[in-house]
Amino acid sequence: MKILVTGGLGFIGSHTVVELQNEGFDVVIVDNLSNSSDEVLKGIVAITGKMPIFENFDLREKSAVIDFFKRHADISGVIHFAASKAVGESVENPLLYYENNINTLVYMLQQLQAKDEANFIFSSSCTVYGQAEKMPITENASVQPAASPYGNTKQIGEEIITETCKVSGINAILLRYFNPIGAHPTAEIGELPIGVPQNLVPFITQTGAGLRQELSVYGDDYPTLDGTCVRDYIHVVDLAKAHVVAMQRLLNKQNSEKVETFNVGTGTGSTVLEVIQTFEKVSGKKLPYKIVGRREGDITSAYANTDKANNVLGWKAQSTLEDALESAWKWEKKIRSIDN
Ligand code: NAD
Ligand code: WQD
Repeated sequence: MKILVTGGLGFIGSHTVVELQNEGFDVVIVDNLSNSSDEVLKGIVAITGKMPIFENFDLREKSAVIDFFKRHADISGVIHFAASKAVGESVENPLLYYENNINTLVYMLQQLQAKDEANFIFSSSCTVYGQAEKMPITENASVQPAASPYGNTKQIGEEIITETCKVSGINAILLRYFNPIGAHPTAEIGELPIGVPQNLVPFITQTGAGLRQELSVYGDDYPTLDGTCVRDYIHVVDLAKAHVVAMQRLLNKQNSEKVETFNVGTGTGSTVLEVIQTFEKVSGKKLPYKIVGRREGDITSAYANTDKANNVLGWKAQSTLEDALESAWKWEKKIRSIDN
């Protein structure tokens, strides 16, 4: 069975391609390399022994999307990762985000709507919950007004899919990711942030590798165990596997509604200081850091209630924070050619 993975050379997409190929799916990747490299294909082949089909084009080109679906009429399912994802950049340039995250989604859905039936998985985010009232967060928690254009594209994206599924043969699963981190345990693929990383774990591993002088911890006066923010850090391989299980559910017509939503997290919250301590443990390095003021827009705490994914999807995160940080560190060392 052939699965289209848009953004399949990116961080989460590449790990998902590996898990799909490991399960025997044929994969077609569409990626315009705006935030990735075709070198990632080598890593995918090194792990799976199989080269996916790769087409390099921009999904904002509607005619290219139409042409693609004409040439690949036999696609059984689509996993749509392609999007821009930097929260700060989305505030600076909202239209870039609305064009790249919304237009591409609409063009994809238009082609799928023309079919008798189609299966679609969307990369959503825990950002839709904002600062939820109750922890852990269930899928029933209310969606809050978006804090950024990026977050808004995820909320609008969910709505566009829900409305379209009602009037078409498309069935969809919305996966709300918590904080994906780590790399493939082989260190053949991993995260490749461009410029200074905005996210915690790549900043930590780059600091460990000597690329950054020290980590700034954004605030230690939050009402949490040690004053730093709490997040649910999920190993990217576990997240990738959730996509495979979700796709199998759609392909086997096991879904109970046209659109289903699942949290994808570990169910455990960790503070920034806990992440630092765990990194120090797995790397054997002291991490230089200083406490600075809060970062604008940060919420205090977000971790998932994963009961629905556990019970309905039959999926559960297997890796610990330690496993995930170990894989992230192994990857960082490999790409920086560090021996120990
Ligand atoms: P990423 O930037 O590593 O991957 C996205 C890929 O899509 C890149 O390879 C990029 O080149 C490609 N792409 C972007 N625009 C495109 C276009 N117009 N046409 C073709 N290809 C295009 O990001 P990621 O971390 O792997 O995230 C994947 C998805 O998951 C995104 O939708 C993101 O919003 C969502 N998400 C990510 C996180 C996270 O923390 N990483 C959390 C929640 C949700
Ligand atoms: C984690 C924690 C920071 C960097 C973002 C997006 C969200 C989602 C995932 C896509 C926070 C602290 C960070 C640093 C720090 N993406 N931190 N020093 O903010 O939970 O979520 O990525 O959907 O939409 O907003 O992740 O990794 O940036 O931060 O102290 O240099 O680490 O304050 O508490 P976040 P993050």
